[in-house]
Amino acid sequence: MLGTALKAHLPLISTTTRDPLASQLVLNHLAGRKDTRRSAGMLPTGQIPTGMVIYVVGVFKVPDGDTIEKLESHYKTHEVSVVVVNPVQKLPPNFYEAGEMPTPLPLVETMVEKVVGVKAAPALIPALGGLTLKEVGWLIRIASATQRKLTRETLTDARRGAFHAPAGLQQINAEMGPYLPEPVLKIWAKTELPFFMNGCDPRLRPRGLLLAGDPGTGKTMAAKWIADQLSIPAYRLHCGSLFNKYVGETEKAMTQALAQVDRDEPCVLLLDEVEKIFGGSSGPTGDSLTKNVLGELLWWLQEHETRVLTIMTTNAQGDLPKELYRPGRIDEEMTFKGVGLKSALALAEHIAASYDPPLSGARVHQAINALFESEGQKLSDSGIDWSQNLRVTQAAVSAAVVKAVKQKMLKPSKSKIH
Ligand SMILES: Nc1ncnc2c1ncn2[C@@H]1O[C@H](COP(=O)(O)OP(=O)(O)OP(=O)(O)O)[C@@H](O)[C@H]1O
Ligand SMILES: [Mg+2]
Repeated sequence: MLGTALKAHLPLISTTTRDPLASQLVLNHLAGRKDTRRSAGMLPTGQIPTGMVIYVVGVFKVPDGDTIEKLESHYKTHEVSVVVVNPVQKLPPNFYEAGEMPTPLPLVETMVEKVVGVKAAPALIPALGGLTLKEVGWLIRIASATQRKLTRETLTDARRGAFHAPAGLQQINAEMGPYLPEPVLKIWAKTELPFFMNGCDPRLRPRGLLLAGDPGTGKTMAAKWIADQLSIPAYRLHCGSLFNKYVGETEKAMTQALAQVDRDEPCVLLLDEVEKIFGGSSGPTGDSLTKNVLGELLWWLQEHETRVLTIMTTNAQGDLPKELYRPGRIDEEMTFKGVGLKSALALAEHIAASYDPPLSGARVHQAINALFESEGQKLSDSGIDWSQNLRVTQAAVSAAVVKAVKQKMLKPSKSKIH
């Protein structure tokens, strides 16, 4: 909005920023000029070169004998724009409120190129969405000091500790232990994620995924894995801090959180256990607050043009309003059903290999066979015929491996299995 206002030579503009010191650089860039100048607080008057951009930070004053209306028409005649950055006083309606000052991408690119060179810079840029130039500088220094290498992964990781996520959002740690992606997820990631990262036609870009399945089948892990594959910030919409007892505040918080992810593009937005927020909200039992918040989200899911990949997880897809995950909002639904014996063994071997020393194949087989026997027994006791396709959750497989590792550590020599 600020760039458009400057190009249109609007006479009086206001904007906000967390980085007022970069105002001149950013305004020059947005206005396509090199001579933007700062005024110490007095709104400029008298002879001003045509097309000039002048900015004031904080408090501004109208010169004695002038009025804001007179100045406005003077600026208009000379196509001058006066920008008040981070206004302190209440602005008269003569000002066009341009919202937050953006950080033009070319300025970020130049800054990063100076640090890592022209060749390495493009790979790092996706980790820096929504940051001001000052924050980009801080993050590079923090990542350089705390991590061994400056990569998109280390920047995304450092970002989580360096800045507070805005209200309603929490940047998640996408680092994870041993993980074997479900085949269906792997195929989806391989075919779809390149369309997310590349600057292709936005209509081809994946918008979101719904991951459904029983507790412990790896839905949250799958969402983290996708974020990890992309090495971009991933935010969890934190509904606890979103809901507010005051009328209209919750809807406002939701809009602000969504505006923030738009600003931080490219990024992943995780709506974990979405049925806990919106389950039943489309029916007569849904309260009006939840319905309003759902409305805000539905609008954004459909309309946003930013590179934000939304991942929803749920244990109870049947409770969700169907409009939440229809095509246009979510491209793909995946249901995780746990693993059968063969996949469970493969998963257990994968997890076991990550221990030091790794658990032997024989111990893994023993642990998983015991798990299937005990799960089968439980089902038999409840009168369920499980002879076909017994499946267990990935969480149960992981827990069985942990148990076997501990057993081996407690009784290393007594066991015949190594
Ligand atoms: N594909 C996988 N590879 C390795 N471990 C896995 C995998 N999927 C799940 N796990 C293990 O199962 C645990 C539970 O996974 P996760 O938290 O993703 O389940 P969930 O489906 O989100 O469960 P809930 O519905 O209860 O939130 C993980 O902490 C991990 O130990
Ligand atoms: Mg989960």
